[in-house]
Amino acid sequence: MSRVAIIGSGPCGLSMLRAFQQAEAKGETIPDVVCFEKQDNWGGLWNYSWRTGSDQYGDPVPNSMYRYLWSNGPKECLEFADYSFDHHFGQAIPSFPPREVLFDYILGRAKDADVKKYIRFGTAVTNVIYNGSQYEITSTNKKANTTSKENFDYLVVASGHFSVPYIPEYEGMQSFPGRILHSHDFRDAEEFRGKDVVVLGSSYSAEDVALQCYKYGAKSVTIGYRNNPMGFKWPDGMKEVHYLDKLDGNKATFKDGHTQNVDALILCSGYLHHFPYLEDNLKLKTHNRLYPPKLYKGVVWQDNHSLMYLGMQDQFHTFNMFDCQAWYARDVIMGKIEMPSAEEIDKDINNWVALEEKLEDPIQMIDFQTEYTKDLHEATDYPEIDFELIRVHFKEWEHNKEEDIMTYRNRSFSSPVTGTVAPLHHTAWGEAMDDSMKTFMESK
Ligand SMILES: Cc1cc2nc3c(=O)[nH]c(=O)nc-3n(C[C@H](O)[C@H](O)[C@H](O)COP(=O)(O)OP(=O)(O)OC[C@H]3O[C@@H](n4cnc5c(N)ncnc54)[C@H](O)[C@@H]3O)c2cc1C
Ligand SMILES: NC(=O)c1ccc[n+]([C@@H]2O[C@H](COP(=O)([O-])OP(=O)(O)OC[C@H]3O[C@@H](n4cnc5c(N)ncnc54)[C@H](OP(=O)(O)O)[C@@H]3O)[C@@H](O)[C@H]2O)c1
Repeated sequence: MSRVAIIGSGPCGLSMLRAFQQAEAKGETIPDVVCFEKQDNWGGLWNYSWRTGSDQYGDPVPNSMYRYLWSNGPKECLEFADYSFDHHFGQAIPSFPPREVLFDYILGRAKDADVKKYIRFGTAVTNVIYNGSQYEITSTNKKANTTSKENFDYLVVASGHFSVPYIPEYEGMQSFPGRILHSHDFRDAEEFRGKDVVVLGSSYSAEDVALQCYKYGAKSVTIGYRNNPMGFKWPDGMKEVHYLDKLDGNKATFKDGHTQNVDALILCSGYLHHFPYLEDNLKLKTHNRLYPPKLYKGVVWQDNHSLMYLGMQDQFHTFNMFDCQAWYARDVIMGKIEMPSAEEIDKDINNWVALEEKLEDPIQMIDFQTEYTKDLHEATDYPEIDFELIRVHFKEWEHNKEEDIMTYRNRSFSSPVTGTVAPLHHTAWGEAMDDSMKTFMESK
């Protein structure tokens, strides 16, 4: 029997385990599966931790989520085809849940599939070498501080790519008298109440961290974009200016000449695809993009088809796209999908990459990733789900954000799995200070 190692039990690793479990439930013989998880809990980024820096064993903390984080896209766009929200919660819930609710949903399916038995918690993969036929995997049991080596026939890398911050430096940082942090270490917007906050970046973290600070009482929030502004209609007290030039004491000067007093500087400058445990020729080297090269169907390592990567794309689609990838990886591993010739693989990858490079706006990006996900979906028996509806939802969501960045989370969408139309939440997002699951589930 072949052996499969999965690194990570975040949403992607759990999709992989679910895919195997579903094959087994249909009477198929599945390989011997081991999932390595360096934390003591599953769910990946959705497993909130107060910790920043290192954990109690000296290992870097992977968690990047913060208190009061709500889904930034409609939950209907990420719904599992084989495990609906209606089924999990036993009632219809609003479209933009807080983190704890989505964490509960992810774990609900994992428990339903009884996949915990495959996971070695508190066990970090520290080294992977391919010896020509197998992967020699070295892992450390963090609590016991013991190291072991094992061989596997297949490797699935599901260790995420939003855990290792990219931290640029600007003139004046060294002598800045306030607080400087990356969004990876942002935990609680309350900390910035009454403060002048500068946020650098123009993507989802910049948008949401800035809004959080505003919502929880920052005195002012100034966003410095590098290339293109987000351009939303920001509420009074928030503004977007061009790129930080330098800091001089507490004074920030921007490229457009704008100056601003600053107590705290939050770098929302993105993350690195970082795989320190992989030998160099197995490493995916890419920035955050919709189609990282060298991955056939966005999943299979071009140079070695026994290596799979899950979830390495920049993400509009998430959980159900991870599922489509995992089902695909499973069928490659179980010999149900045959790899085409090297030429065809190269052509296919180049085709997607060329298409991606022509994309000009978020609407085209949504179309691109929807087409990619549909392409994968057709290749396996992942259950029916209406990706056309998801495409429409994403476009409406973009439109809602442009209309009003403060209210887009108050909208309702319909399920691509059950058709249920989400109820409106009892409290508008701008006034909802308590993000607990208990309060969210209450009806007024
Ligand atoms: C701040 C933030 C907010 C987000 N909000 C949303 C949202 O609202 N909606 C949405 O759909 N998506 C959101 N995302 C996107 C998020 O990337 C996905 O939802 C999802 O968590 C990706 O799953 P993953 O399994 O690829 O990675 P992760 O969730 O990062 O899981 C990776 C797992 O691998 C483990 N691991 C890493 N290295 C090792 C190792 N060497 N050995 C063993 N285990 C290891 C980690 O401990 C972790 O459990 C957000 C991301 C961030 C950073
Ligand atoms: N649920 C939520 O509300 C929520 C909140 C936060 C994050 N997220 C998720 O988290 C993931 C990561 O998002 P992200 O925004 O952290 O990363 P990202 O989407 O990769 O964006 C990185 C940003 O960093 C900027 N940047 C890079 N180098 C810079 C520099 N030297 N100076 C200034 N800016 C620099 C980039 O600017 P350019 O565009 O100019 O290159 C870009 O705006 C996404 O999947 C997102 O959906 C979700």
